[in-house]
Amino acid sequence: METIAIILAAGQGTRMKSILPKVLHPLLGRPLAAYSVEMAALVCGRPPLVVVGHGAGQVRQALGASARYVVQAEQLGTGHAVLQAEVELADFAGLVLIISADMPLLRAETIAALAQTQASNPGPLSLLTVSGPDPRGFGRIVRDADGGVLAIVEEAQATPAQLAIREYNVGAYCACSAWLWQALKKVKRSPKGEYYLTDIVQLAVEEGQAVVASPVAEPVEALGINTRAHLAEATAAIRARVNLRWMEAGVAMIDPGQVYIEPGVTLAPDTTLWPGTYLKGSTSIGSGCVIGPDTIIESSTVGNDCRILSSVLEFATLEDHVEMGPFCHLRKGAHLASHVHMGNFGEVKDSYLGEGTKMGHFSYIGNASIEGNVNIGAGTITCNYDGEQKHPTEIGEGAFIGSDTMLVAPVKIGKGARTGAGSVVNRDVAPGDVVVGVPARPLRKAGK
Ligand code: UD1
Ligand code: CA
Repeated sequence: METIAIILAAGQGTRMKSILPKVLHPLLGRPLAAYSVEMAALVCGRPPLVVVGHGAGQVRQALGASARYVVQAEQLGTGHAVLQAEVELADFAGLVLIISADMPLLRAETIAALAQTQASNPGPLSLLTVSGPDPRGFGRIVRDADGGVLAIVEEAQATPAQLAIREYNVGAYCACSAWLWQALKKVKRSPKGEYYLTDIVQLAVEEGQAVVASPVAEPVEALGINTRAHLAEATAAIRARVNLRWMEAGVAMIDPGQVYIEPGVTLAPDTTLWPGTYLKGSTSIGSGCVIGPDTIIESSTVGNDCRILSSVLEFATLEDHVEMGPFCHLRKGAHLASHVHMGNFGEVKDSYLGEGTKMGHFSYIGNASIEGNVNIGAGTITCNYDGEQKHPTEIGEGAFIGSDTMLVAPVKIGKGARTGAGSVVNRDVAPGDVVVGVPARPLRKAGK
């Protein structure tokens, strides 16, 4: 049957104690709500309808075209929130999934199964439940002696006997659209002044209609986020899930509890991740690499058999067999060809280092194009910025840059040329020449 999802994301999330709307708090690099939005799109084959309210503009901007939106101008409760979608879905006659934006661990398989349950339910409503010792403020599932669902009672309204119930409302529902809208209009304000979505369960039961409540397979899926402590718990759970998937795909982790891999990252088998590794954004890592300890890689491409120790890479590219660290910093536009070696304390930005080039110690290379097999001596610096503009440096194949050379850009060093230790090079050096001094002058011309 046709299915569409409504994601509830209009609440402020006061328990987070934050100016940022709860559903935008980052969870492994992505806004919390992005998880349920993506999952719902997968299940329904189309973008969900997100109910926005508190921080509506910010939420829409963060989720962008991945969803459609309706506004709940005043946050009068979850029942009221769902009702705001009626106008948008007036012509829709299928099943409506309703999911809270603060349930990031719900899996697509679980929600698809919920839709399946409702498709074969003669009654109008199905929902997910979870059991366990810790109620976490969830609504309690009240059942009759035969196990039939009677109602969901919110914690604030529950009797002591109801509070002792250990089956809870997860906050994911599937309803027949035609029934849903009229039921929501019958919901009365709670003593707290809100229209509770959960009240539609009792309404169905009073009509003599069947409500099916089925337990989630893995209790961790029901981890909802109301507080920062919950957010930390969910981060750990999602991280464990992501890490397990990569280990199953052949990635080694010395201590998976200390490895952070964001959902957009890809890895190839036989790569080893040491503790303190953070892989972020759209990073991709080839096979046979050893990364970390203590390495942050953001939206970078790393080839095969690279070794990266205690370094930070941002928007960089490494080809194969690159070795770097400890303590290197690759910034946007750094591109290291195969077999480049970069030792301790190097920074590269907007530069290409050709195959086999070595940069052992304490260097800054910016806006440079460096061919292969160049030796960049300790302390070499491209003086690429004159206070107003950036200027390029070009270094030819096999050149030897002496320790502590200042390359005052724009400047070109020819193939096979050499600069003496401590030279300040502010004029181009011809291929094969040797220059020394401040400012650098030719000591020997090529071939002489
Ligand atoms: C809700 C359920 C509770 C369930 C729990 C599980 C109700 C009344 N209670 O409680 O039974 O156990 O989820 O997660 O539904 N929202 C709006 N507009 C509003 C109010 C809330 O869009 O006016 C959104 C929030 O942004 C949030 C979701 O609805 O994403 C749930 O709201 P929240 O306040 O977190 O409800 P809970 O107290 O957790
Ligand atoms: Ca909640």
